[in-house]
Amino acid sequence: MKKAYTIALANQKGGVGKTTVGLNLASAFHLGGTETALVDADPQNTSLRWATSGAETLGIAVTSLAPAGNKIGNEIAKLQRKYDLVVVDCPGNLEDPRTPEVLKVADFCLMPLGPSPADLFSTLAMIREVAAIRRRDNPGLNSALMLNAVNGKTKMRGEIIKLLEEQDVGTHLLKCQIAQREIYRQVFALGTTVHECTRYMRGLKEARAEIEALAVELSTFIAETKKRG
Ligand SMILES: Nc1ncnc2c1ncn2[C@@H]1O[C@H](COP(=O)(O)OP(=O)(O)O)[C@@H](O)[C@H]1O
Ligand SMILES: [Mg+2]
Repeated sequence: MKKAYTIALANQKGGVGKTTVGLNLASAFHLGGTETALVDADPQNTSLRWATSGAETLGIAVTSLAPAGNKIGNEIAKLQRKYDLVVVDCPGNLEDPRTPEVLKVADFCLMPLGPSPADLFSTLAMIREVAAIRRRDNPGLNSALMLNAVNGKTKMRGEIIKLLEEQDVGTHLLKCQIAQREIYRQVFALGTTVHECTRYMRGLKEARAEIEALAVELSTFIAETKKRG
């Protein structure tokens, strides 16, 4: 029986790119031949609305499981039996009971954040929550931060790594990062993703390359953890 690897996009801060990174990443895996489901766990239903509005159709299946509330873990478990990969877009506040329930059944918590110390400080509560869930409920839960909407030549990466070390929260920062690009807003408005978009737009090639780099970094990590058993 299948047991899909499950990646949750979580950060209680809104607007950091959970939905953007989640959908584009899931779509890249889907087109690469991995049977992938995207779960919208956010009662604001941004992923679902993204996938069902706009001019283009999206190949990847998006299921809203937000109505399951704190029973969302059971619903995700059902999808885990049908797919190879489940990507979950979590709600943007720490009080929402769905986020911890998702993290209890997830393998990896990916926390996008903007490239600023302020974003790191507002992500610390999330990092601690993930650590608490790992201790209490899900010892196999891995996690990492990822910089999103990085603009041009910002040197924030080193700064963020230094702050992370000072805070001693035991979470690492992915090597790959996503640039700030208009194309991410454009494909969102069209109801598609950088990989599934059928028209040529500026920045598409670069966006596809960085989303693929993220997929490769995560796949490598997943393969290594599976080898370690
Ligand atoms: N890398 C990026 N470049 C440009 N715009 C981005 C990028 N990532 C996200 N956005 C935009 O920022 C806004 C918030 O992103 P979203 O994915 O909805 O965040 P969250 O789900 O964390 O609230 C959206 O309008 C989205 O199009
Ligand atoms: Mg969102």
